[in-house]
Amino acid sequence: MATNKKPILNDLFETRNSHTEEAEEIKKEDFIKTVKSRRSVRNYSDEPVLEKDMKACLELALLAPNSSNLQPWEFYWVRSQKKKNKLISYCLGQPAASTAQELVVAVARPDYWKVNQKRMLELIGEMGEKAPKSVKKYYGRIVPLAYDQGWFSLRGYLKKIAMEIRGIKTPTPREPYNKKGMSVWAHKSTALACENLMLSLRAYGYDSCPMEGIDSKRIKKLLNLKSPAEISMVVSAGKRAKNGVYGKQVRFNSSYFIHEV
Ligand SMILES: Cc1cc2nc3c(=O)[nH]c(=O)nc-3n(C[C@H](O)[C@H](O)[C@H](O)COP(=O)(O)O)c2cc1C
Repeated sequence: MATNKKPILNDLFETRNSHTEEAEEIKKEDFIKTVKSRRSVRNYSDEPVLEKDMKACLELALLAPNSSNLQPWEFYWVRSQKKKNKLISYCLGQPAASTAQELVVAVARPDYWKVNQKRMLELIGEMGEKAPKSVKKYYGRIVPLAYDQGWFSLRGYLKKIAMEIRGIKTPTPREPYNKKGMSVWAHKSTALACENLMLSLRAYGYDSCPMEGIDSKRIKKLLNLKSPAEISMVVSAGKRAKNGVYGKQVRFNSSYFIHEV
């Protein structure tokens, strides 16, 4: 039966289309080359990564798409030699870390929904009358509804019950509703930024390796991080040595993974 009720986020999207931005032309060959030549490098040469290149790649990482534009991540570029040595041992001495020129710890911040909601509301406040109402509503009301799970996730579980009931008859947003969901929420966006970082390094002529074979607890202590911050991965960077990659890139047949339905 047809209903007059608008889908839950419609008025937000309908009122936000006054800005126009052309999609820039790009050479797909260069992009394909970047993606295809990115390999996980376990042995780096002694050639340094230029500071300005590292900075540029980290800035590009921050341009990754992220949930509600709440940017739930942090990147610690570990530059002090003392800390670097410790980090290498917390990466369990893996060659991808011990031979690397640079090491970056990617941290997922489930708590940043609130920190960056505040920043966003300040930005909206500075825009004054020019700020679209829908944006104010989104960051003022919908964001807390979606991401504030409350004390011991009680609010989240109540929301889950309400959404389950609502969802019987109509498409309904469901996750996140607890601490674990918020962790997944933050890690998704952080991992996308890590991929941006690794592809950027490749485009600048460097190589990288993501690592989760790490002692996350010790790394958190090294960086003075407290829960709910979580280590997403460590990304190493440098120029690959001749024997930098273990072998040819292996992927299973794409028909296992790509489904047209
Ligand atoms: C989340 C994540 C964690 C990883 N952890 C490690 C690691 O601890 N050590 C390592 O040598 N490689 C690690 N890798 C790299 C993978 O082994 C590698 O991506 C995979 O074998 C495919 O090879 P390719 O990246 O060269 O295509 C990790 C990759 C990802 C995405």
